[in-house]
Amino acid sequence: MTTPPFSISLRAPGSRGPRIVLFVEDGGGDWHARRLREALQARGAQVITTCLKFCAFDTRLQSGIHIPGFDGDLPDGAFVRSVSTGSLEQITLRLGILHALRESGVRVWNDARVIERCVDKSTATFFFQKAGLPVPVTRAAEGIEAARAFAAAEGRPVVVKPLFGSQGNGVRRVEAPDQLPDAVEVGDVYYVQRYLRGAADTRFEDWRLFVSRGRVLAAMSRVGRTWITNVHQGAEPVGIETDPEMSHLALEAARAIGADYAGVDLIRDEAGRLLVLEINSNPAWKGLQGVTDVNIAWTLADDFLAALAEKTSA
Ligand SMILES: Nc1ncnc2c1ncn2[C@@H]1O[C@H](COP(=O)(O)OP(=O)(O)OP(=O)(O)O)[C@@H](O)[C@H]1O
Ligand SMILES: [Mg+2]
Repeated sequence: MTTPPFSISLRAPGSRGPRIVLFVEDGGGDWHARRLREALQARGAQVITTCLKFCAFDTRLQSGIHIPGFDGDLPDGAFVRSVSTGSLEQITLRLGILHALRESGVRVWNDARVIERCVDKSTATFFFQKAGLPVPVTRAAEGIEAARAFAAAEGRPVVVKPLFGSQGNGVRRVEAPDQLPDAVEVGDVYYVQRYLRGAADTRFEDWRLFVSRGRVLAAMSRVGRTWITNVHQGAEPVGIETDPEMSHLALEAARAIGADYAGVDLIRDEAGRLLVLEINSNPAWKGLQGVTDVNIAWTLADDFLAALAEKTSA
């Protein structure tokens, strides 16, 4: 079996550290993946960087799973920086590989179940509500008629989001039921939510808390010129000390999903009440790294290796 060109074997000769596979974007690792790889290696881990796209199920292998660079063996741990974009079939196969790794005893960060829960906004919202966390009034259903009925019942602007969206892409505000996007634009699934700002609001802010192993590593406020306050959309990140309420909500949100690490977004409604807006199972941290003294890649590497060591000694 051939090894794709960018799968880099970085095993130090004679090193006996845990064998880690780092799954990155098709085409090579990004800024985050490079820092994570360096941090893991600095702690003695043997790191192979590849893309889930190059993995396979193969009944000729005893493990049943082919990961480039492992010769049919399995790693001790898998860190998923990215599942990478693909067709429904490609994503299904890649998540299947992650499920299979977990079922084979490999510690996967974050696990496929967590990725699935986070990537679908409606499932994440459900888990938050189930855990008793405050969430925006939301309905996710098929068909424009149900969305129109929700918007009409709200009697105020609503927000429509793509079920699989990220970085604020495709998030839009709709002033009236007849402005809802066409079915084809949203795959006929309408994730509609109460718009949480007042008509006169001019200050738009929400908060991103980065959680790992049951604690908040760092946090930032994002202040936008428009109501969509993603850094990707031009909002200004400002480092903050988290207050206990924010920390509590972020940690409980990650726990509700079962995430080992996550980026949790919090927002305040018009009355000033904090709500859990969103969770990301493969969060970027470049913006956050610019406003905190905590080295996020190092801390993530420490946490992941500690989780591996715990599993090994259990
Ligand atoms: N119901 C809402 N009312 C007011 N503003 C909202 C609402 N939902 C989202 N926003 C704004 O839009 C931004 C993007 O929304 P959201 O975080 O839900 O999606 P995303 O960022 O595209 O997804 P992800 O967080 O998974 O990357 C938020 O950071 C917030 O500023
Ligand atoms: Mg967000």
